[in-house]
Amino acid sequence: MTQDDLFKNIIAHAKEYGFVFPSSEIYDGLSAVYDYGQMGVELKNNIKSYWWEAMVRLHQNIVGLDAAIFMHPKIWEASGHVGAFNDPLIDNKDSKKRYRADVLLEDYLAKQQEKIDKEVEKGQKRFGDAFDRVQFLSTNPNVLRVKEKIDTISQRMSEALHKNDLEGLRQLILDCEIACPVSGSRNWTDVRQFNLMFSTQMGSLNEEANQIYLRPETAQGIFVNFLNVQKTGRMKIPFGIAQIGKAFRNEIVARQFIFRMREFEQMEMQFFVRPGEEMNWYNYWKEARLRWHTSLGLGPERYRFHDHDKLAHYANAACDIEFAFPFGFKELEGIHSRTDFDLSQHQKFSGRKQQYFDPETNESYVPYVVETSIGLDRTFLAVLSAAYTEEHIAEGESRVVLRLPAVLAPVKAAVLPLVKKDGLPQKAREVWQLLTYDMNTQYDEKDSIGKRYRRQDAIGTPYCITIDHQTLEDNMITLRERDSMTQERIPVSAIRSRILEHISLGEALRKI
Ligand code: GAP
Repeated sequence: MTQDDLFKNIIAHAKEYGFVFPSSEIYDGLSAVYDYGQMGVELKNNIKSYWWEAMVRLHQNIVGLDAAIFMHPKIWEASGHVGAFNDPLIDNKDSKKRYRADVLLEDYLAKQQEKIDKEVEKGQKRFGDAFDRVQFLSTNPNVLRVKEKIDTISQRMSEALHKNDLEGLRQLILDCEIACPVSGSRNWTDVRQFNLMFSTQMGSLNEEANQIYLRPETAQGIFVNFLNVQKTGRMKIPFGIAQIGKAFRNEIVARQFIFRMREFEQMEMQFFVRPGEEMNWYNYWKEARLRWHTSLGLGPERYRFHDHDKLAHYANAACDIEFAFPFGFKELEGIHSRTDFDLSQHQKFSGRKQQYFDPETNESYVPYVVETSIGLDRTFLAVLSAAYTEEHIAEGESRVVLRLPAVLAPVKAAVLPLVKKDGLPQKAREVWQLLTYDMNTQYDEKDSIGKRYRRQDAIGTPYCITIDHQTLEDNMITLRERDSMTQERIPVSAIRSRILEHISLGEALRKI
């Protein structure tokens, strides 16, 4: 199965089992907007808790915040979003389709990379065990030629983006002979900048003064509350403010399912530090965030750092934690050392001091900030795609199982009476009652037990509890574990603690 097919299967599975639905589906959907269904909302809430508790509960110097989505429009001038939160867009005159110029080029570069991968594959086949990948990559003439092309194009692209050279970007698209995927023509317009913020009007007057924006990041809500939290919480630097909330971006190239959405959720934390100490904290948070990711058990090989060499004007260090999605390694979280840019800008635009008096140094200063910013929906997609497994289990028998980390699974246990009679449903409901105060537990009596196991596998339920006639005699149930499918008999009195041990958020947090 290709990665493309795998991804399609994951999207279909997400819909079939109530994880993610296209928004407004009965009206043919709304591009790049999605709804989370009955399973999706549970998984999403569990991811939120895992992040929130790891950031807020486990750090005495990090507190939470829930700022409003609507904010004073000057905030977005101060932050630079009004002037510079743009994407370079280009239209094809024949298909009338609009593209992000940098994405057209990135796709072109990805195709060149595929050529290299194919050469490697051919080499592997030709040389078998004697194949030396490193040597092959550094000596094969075809690979070297394509690599040089990739380097030249990447260099020109990043220079053009950095200098905001829109004509340079267009020329690069022409030089690469990139055609519109729809019309196949190279009849391109000029490249123009397009602001990504959604705007709306506040109050009844449709005047420019009343124009406000849907926040494109949650971070600014934290910056403008920095002193409120610091003073009322008597926080001492270094300290952090964490927030989970919706953000909105009018993404033009919205694709790859919930990877790039127009309405999405961020989990951000701004860590306020003494000027000059930011690089230590930047390195601290890089490692701490990677540890959080790998603690989910999806496999350390699925993560990598990507350090930015071209930095935004306000940053003095930045990196992404990338995840191996079915469509390749892509950004999952950003860690940025944002200097004192944001607070200084708000000080300037609001005319209010954004300073902290440091009792240890007897000085007042605008703190520096290290930010960790992770997309909730992207984390959801990372977890879902890593968990999705199509498995052959016996002759002519297969299953789709979501090997979700137990702490994140939407349903922790399912109680299944073997048959719908002889007092088994009554006993099963007793067991359900025993568990339901501690964990999300399903009761299911429909269809054969095999079908019910498959249904629970498909939503990633770690444990199934089967009640049979023997249970009525000895008060023992069958506990089936999702991944190994092993079954064992244990007393009803032992189920609760046995399952709690594996699904507990506290236990999972202890392992970070
Ligand atoms: N405050 C910094 C900030 O917003 P960003 O790199 O633009 O930085 C942070 O966004 C994270 O938000 C990304 O790493 C990604 O996980 C998520 N994100 C950004 N745009 C997104 C979109 N259109 N759809 C889904 N998630 C998105």
